[in-house]
Amino acid sequence: MPFQYTWDEIEQHVTVCTQCPLSRTRKRPVMGRGSHQADIMLIAEAPGGQEDAQGIPFVGRSGEILDNLLRDCGLGREEIYITNIVKCRPPGNRDPEDGEKEACFPYLKYETFLLRPQIIVCLGRIAAQRIISPDFKITRQHGTWTYRKNCALTATYHPSAILRDASKYEAVRADFCEVVKKRIAYNRQ
Ligand code: URA
Ligand code: SF4
Repeated sequence: MPFQYTWDEIEQHVTVCTQCPLSRTRKRPVMGRGSHQADIMLIAEAPGGQEDAQGIPFVGRSGEILDNLLRDCGLGREEIYITNIVKCRPPGNRDPEDGEKEACFPYLKYETFLLRPQIIVCLGRIAAQRIISPDFKITRQHGTWTYRKNCALTATYHPSAILRDASKYEAVRADFCEVVKKRIAYNRQ
């Protein structure tokens, strides 16, 4: 794919993509969604069951948690952009395999290229290890910042980790609030 693909063209490719075996088990591919003017991009791991059924990211229980987190930090879904490392659901919600992540990576690259976000927030280990560093330790390193070209990158726990352990909510809320502060600092420059 050439770099100058538009949002519509990326979505058209994702909609019919058969570049990896996840295409055989998905119901619907899940293209990223949100504002194409967003300065904050959230990157999670892979669609779950609800997302697979509806073709929309974060519409299941993790989505409810995400909405609470965003609201608590004064962010609206409509002002950010949310996408996943792989656009199709892995069967049984297993971790995506390396080959699947690599096959899907061009779509993420084109999304990032078009959006040019100021801030990228990785949700969970899978995204953090693919985007920030292969040995990223989410427990120890969530909330830390890495700078690349004109973009600040950070990671926090995936909302599904909060479903398993509610005590993580506070840590993720704090990480999101730092994201909002970082954005305010950038906008003052
Ligand atoms: N979990 C993810 O990682 N992505 C979604 O889109 C939904 C749940
Ligand atoms: Fe294509 Fe990505 Fe879906 Fe694999 S996960 S079929 S590469 S859109």
